[in-house]
Amino acid sequence: MSERDSVLALAERLARAAGRLQRERYETAFAVGHKSAPIDLVTEVDHACEALIVEALQVERPHDAILAEEGGGQDRPGARWRWVIDPLDGTVNYAHGYPRFCVSIGVEHEGVASVGVVYDPLLDELYHAVRGAGAFRNGRRIRVSQQQQLGRGLFCTGFAYDVHGARDDNLDHFAAFVKAAGGVRRDGSAALDLCYVASGRFEGYWELKLKAWDVAAGALLVEEAGGQVSDLFGGPPDPSGRSIVASNGALHPAMLGLLARG
Ligand code: IPD
Ligand code: CA
Ligand code: CA
Repeated sequence: MSERDSVLALAERLARAAGRLQRERYETAFAVGHKSAPIDLVTEVDHACEALIVEALQVERPHDAILAEEGGGQDRPGARWRWVIDPLDGTVNYAHGYPRFCVSIGVEHEGVASVGVVYDPLLDELYHAVRGAGAFRNGRRIRVSQQQQLGRGLFCTGFAYDVHGARDDNLDHFAAFVKAAGGVRRDGSAALDLCYVASGRFEGYWELKLKAWDVAAGALLVEEAGGQVSDLFGGPPDPSGRSIVASNGALHPAMLGLLARG
């Protein structure tokens, strides 16, 4: 087994283990706090999932760097492998018992996104991608949609936790899509939104002000499924997240056009 294959196998095992925890504790009484704003929630389960993943990595791959949302692990400059972890993406959904959340694990090899795993524990859907080797859901190859018409496409976005006060709040873009697209969703999990573009459920997804862990796995899934990923202006995607536009490729220019007008 190549080192990349063993990294993939470990990422899948840890995503399933954290997902099991999410499923077991879903709709139970768990502590909920907040971070950057009163609407930026974090639960006991976010921390428990992160601890499970990070502690296993520290034992199994002690030389790798770790960037995890809740601050666990150590980001070691110079490490060959770097794990970028969102232990629970969709925390607001999770805290409200809305069934859409996941575990997201992206792994970079020498600075390049190499492996991506996203696990939706309620649907038992495991997405994975390996650079150059395609994107898969539960082991079956996935591809982006073939839709060419913006007005027939289903799109998705999200809003940052500073939305109550920020001027760049994405509402202008949202309005532009509502008026032009076949449909628009705000579903609360950036990593799953990207997987839905990769698997053709959505034609496209965009969001501003994301973080590296929101997109580390999902952006690779979209690319490996034949889609396109860029920043808001069509430039190369920013690995630290920030703005992202992901599409089936065919509708990328139309999406960028709408975003430029919004
Ligand atoms: C959030 C979700 C949401 C997106 C936010 C993210 P979290 O991540 O992905 O869909 O709109 O920008 O921060 O806080 O649930 O891990
Ligand atoms: Ca997230
Ligand atoms: Ca999270």
